[in-house]
Amino acid sequence: MEMIEFEHPVARDFVTRLRRKDAPPVRFRAYANRLAYLLAVEATRDLRTIPAQVETPLETTLGEVLIDPPVIVPVLRAGLGILEPFQDLLPDSPVAFIGMSRNETTAEPVWHYSSIPNVAGKKVIVLDPMLATGGTASVVIEYLFDKNAAEVILVSVVAAPEGIAKLSVFENLTVITVCVDRELDSNWFIRPGLGDFGDRLYSKGI
Ligand code: URA
Repeated sequence: MEMIEFEHPVARDFVTRLRRKDAPPVRFRAYANRLAYLLAVEATRDLRTIPAQVETPLETTLGEVLIDPPVIVPVLRAGLGILEPFQDLLPDSPVAFIGMSRNETTAEPVWHYSSIPNVAGKKVIVLDPMLATGGTASVVIEYLFDKNAAEVILVSVVAAPEGIAKLSVFENLTVITVCVDRELDSNWFIRPGLGDFGDRLYSKGI
């Protein structure tokens, strides 16, 4: 596993805005969306291009076009809050869905739903904003490697050391996050964290 702590002052500013407990869902969604553009730029840094001829209004020149668009997999619900910028920057990428929740008593991931195209040989970008225990993320990543994905990039906003340690066993995995927080608490919430990302996006109380 390669770990990238995304170093950018604007990204850190947006995470601070997301952390504020009085940010209402409408602001929270806007901040998450803007932050996700920065993360999408980082996550797509190594995509391959091929040369392509292009006619400008003045002459013909050589440009580049992306090949092999990665598959984007937002993990429901929270992943939906950072999906749109990835779709904007990668208009040819298929979007696949995995619905997971966490058993609140055991913290074990519960699989609800998936709709995944053929990922064999493909790069897959998984969107999971809060990397807490790493339980959900490792089930998703294992599933994608079982389906012969070539490489997985997990994009998160905040990560706990426990989750990073859990994912360290995977090869061909890159984890991108903006902040590595202190720890998980006894309810498996990231501290200091920002609360439940899905609840904050979709209006439930913290
Ligand atoms: N999921 C969240 O949304 N927040 C946490 O702190 C942990 C998991």
